[in-house]
Amino acid sequence: MARIEAEVGKPKGGFMKWIDDRFPFTSTMKYHATEYYASKNFNFWYVFGVLAMVVLVIQLVTGIFLTMNYKPSADEAFASVEYIMRDVEWGWLIRYMHSTGASFFFIVVYLHMFRAMLYGSYKKPRELIWIIGMLIFFVLMAEAFAGYLLPWGQMSYWGAQVIISLFGAIPGIGDAIVEFIRGDYSISDITLNRFFALHVIALPLALIGLVFVHIVALHEVGSNNPDGIEIKEHKGPDGVPLDGVAFHPYHTSKDLVAIIIFLMVFSSVVFFAPEMGGYFLEHANFEPANLRATPEHIAPVWYFTPFYAILRAVPDKLWGFILFGLSVLLPAALPWLDRSRVKSIRYRGWMYRTALALFVVSFLGLGWLGTQPADGAYVIAARIFSVVYFAFFLLMPYYTAVDKTRPVPDRVVYHG
Ligand code: HEM
Repeated sequence: MARIEAEVGKPKGGFMKWIDDRFPFTSTMKYHATEYYASKNFNFWYVFGVLAMVVLVIQLVTGIFLTMNYKPSADEAFASVEYIMRDVEWGWLIRYMHSTGASFFFIVVYLHMFRAMLYGSYKKPRELIWIIGMLIFFVLMAEAFAGYLLPWGQMSYWGAQVIISLFGAIPGIGDAIVEFIRGDYSISDITLNRFFALHVIALPLALIGLVFVHIVALHEVGSNNPDGIEIKEHKGPDGVPLDGVAFHPYHTSKDLVAIIIFLMVFSSVVFFAPEMGGYFLEHANFEPANLRATPEHIAPVWYFTPFYAILRAVPDKLWGFILFGLSVLLPAALPWLDRSRVKSIRYRGWMYRTALALFVVSFLGLGWLGTQPADGAYVIAARIFSVVYFAFFLLMPYYTAVDKTRPVPDRVVYHG
């Protein structure tokens, strides 16, 4: 029966039939594009998934070309990056695209995650999409961290030194873990080599695999939408959701506009402000790694600073490490912390709205504080924001359960 169904709609002859007899091309295109129905009321927040894919491709392609001229050795790495910037044809462009792409990856992914928090996209039945997304986020962090060591500049070296030595706070096995990560008694050529292997092979492979299963899981349950309504619950006689439109050509054409605008913004940064005032490429990293001179002020790149600020806000080394780890892991628990009956912020009460607003303020505040020295008023502010950050998650089962929600309409709200 299934076989007969699969035959329906196949091309009757020619090249496509030849392909389809050997590979499920037409049926796959239908399932994932021309007959994948997504809500017609997608808004601005729904473009970041596809933009994340665009950035992933930019990173993979520019990364391959960088690897052709980069030398993963402590003696040659820094000079090889300078060689790429000055002597390799278009090398500066490839390198700036890759370094800018790293920051844009996080901008896009943070906005993509925030969309899920606005519309409750992590709630049943999309918990697994969220969990896979969190795994992508962890791998992305590891990928960015490993990549940052490769130019072997001052910040590459000392940033890695600070972060890797954090594991030393774990009682008993801490020192062994630190040595295991470094592969040596200090950060050395050996560390650089293994980070290179992770950055160019292992982690990109994991990313591609995880993005693939992310989409498979999404297409199994269907996309959420700004109203948080399951469009599959209202189908027409032809079995098509009444509020859904085919992903291709309707959403692909809108996505194309978003991609073009994104590329314009991206190129403006690549061509006019690739260092972004030291936020995308830190000034200290234009000096080669010097094992005998610590930079005056060690700060990770901006996308790690919210978590770094939490780490420094805690006076105790072990607790700092635990809370730092928790701050990264906790969002994974959102599907089970959120007990609201409704998904979208449009129908939630004042409590969730206020909590989400405070969360955003604390996250941005921590991000800024992580770039500042850890003393005086900065530390006090970081402590306050850290409490707000954790309260958002830990009190969620309570405030989402008692928050007064508004009635959710049956069909999606769309003003064409
Ligand atoms: C390389 C990184 C990522 C890529 C390429 C990616 C790609 C996508 C795409 C193409 C979609 C469908 C379009 C859309 O809804 O925007 C999507 C949906 C989704 N993603 Fe991601 N994603 C990434 C990372 C993440 C992360 C880090 C999370 C969360 C931790 C996440 C959570 C979700 C959720 C919950 C949905 C369903 C949204 C809905 O239907 O409302 N994704 N993703």
